[in-house]
Amino acid sequence: MKGKILVTGGAGYIGSHTTVELQNAGYEVVVLDNLSNSNAGVIDGIEHITGIRPAFVQMDLQDKDALRKLFEEHKGIKGIINFAASKAVGESVQKPLLYYRNNLVTLMNLLDLMPEYGVEAIVFSSSCTVYGQPDILPVDEKAPIKPAMSPYGNTKQICEEIIKDTIYSGVPFKSIILRYFNPIGAHPTAEIGELPLGVPQNLLPYVTQTAMGIREQLSVFGDDYNTPDGSCIRDYINVVDLAKAHVIAVDRMLGGKSKQDVEIFNLGTGKGVSVLELIQTFEKATGVKVNYKIVGRREGDIEKVWANPEWANKELGWEAKETLEDTLASAWKWQQKLRERGIM
Ligand code: NAD
Ligand code: WQD
Repeated sequence: MKGKILVTGGAGYIGSHTTVELQNAGYEVVVLDNLSNSNAGVIDGIEHITGIRPAFVQMDLQDKDALRKLFEEHKGIKGIINFAASKAVGESVQKPLLYYRNNLVTLMNLLDLMPEYGVEAIVFSSSCTVYGQPDILPVDEKAPIKPAMSPYGNTKQICEEIIKDTIYSGVPFKSIILRYFNPIGAHPTAEIGELPLGVPQNLLPYVTQTAMGIREQLSVFGDDYNTPDGSCIRDYINVVDLAKAHVIAVDRMLGGKSKQDVEIFNLGTGKGVSVLELIQTFEKATGVKVNYKIVGRREGDIEKVWANPEWANKELGWEAKETLEDTLASAWKWQQKLRERGIM
């Protein structure tokens, strides 16, 4: 084994895919999750893929005593990937204190205990949302951070600052901050994927549920933007490609290859895709029509954003490899599997 990694939020969408890739790379994984936005069946899915069942600790990361107990029981954790957070933008506007408490206290508990237990590295899940509507596209890591458009986005900005200030205070660990663009798709085995609770807020789960007949019709939020087809543009990145970047980040820090105590990388494909293009590509990839209508703009939506991934390509030796078509097909295969299992 290459070492032991704690994956907080590891039963979640990106955390579960990252746990698979960590295991594939030879790491031993401890999954921490309170199942507030996931279920324990995901651990089974991980085991079905890799043949290795990760240790799983069901706990609330806001509970520092519980975290201490985890470190006592799972000795030798060398790195942490921190996915655990609340992430629904709209909900954060309705429940800001829940978001500030959950997303900040969880991170601070980890940072507090890391030196005591010899943890050398932490990867933080950030978001392109910190850039707001960039002035220059594609957006690179030097782009200015814009005032957050939501409490959720603000928690990501604040967490980045908390990490930097903590590291600069002289603690004995390093950090890599990964700013994800729009993660989509599912593991090719369809054993794990995105499992939004309730009505999906994100585009692709809504598309696949509409294609499956779970939702009657997809609403496209606006076609009057200053883009070629009028719909918003995003950088949709395959979740397995994203997961692999986390393994590289852990390898980099534990292998002593970090060039600074805190490093920041954009994780995107570098290609902008509009909502209407995504729908058309989904229909082409799956042969399934999507029933949609154009409605008014969604409050707070950024018009267009896509990454300049050159820094991650160069420094991490990482790039997004999966095509949009294959990624959309993987999401559809996952939706079909959920139907087969009677889950959705
Ligand atoms: P997710 O909700 O699927 O996973 C988060 C997991 O954390 C869930 O399993 C949830 O049960 C768990 N969790 C939440 N609060 C917890 C707590 N207090 N204690 C223990 N477990 C807790 O979300 P995701 O899409 O996998 O996102 C993972 C991370 O990446 C989040 O930090 C999110 O903000 C960030 N991110 C996500 C996206 C995206 O579009 N999915 C984009 C950019 C950044
Ligand atoms: C994508 C595009 C919508 C749903 C959000 C968060 C971001 C990150 C990723 C956590 C937009 C359009 C959507 C629908 C639609 N999450 N859309 N009909 O808003 O880019 O980013 O998720 O970190 O922080 O802000 O993703 O999937 O919600 O929307 O037309 O039913 O699809 O307007 O243009 P978004 P999204």
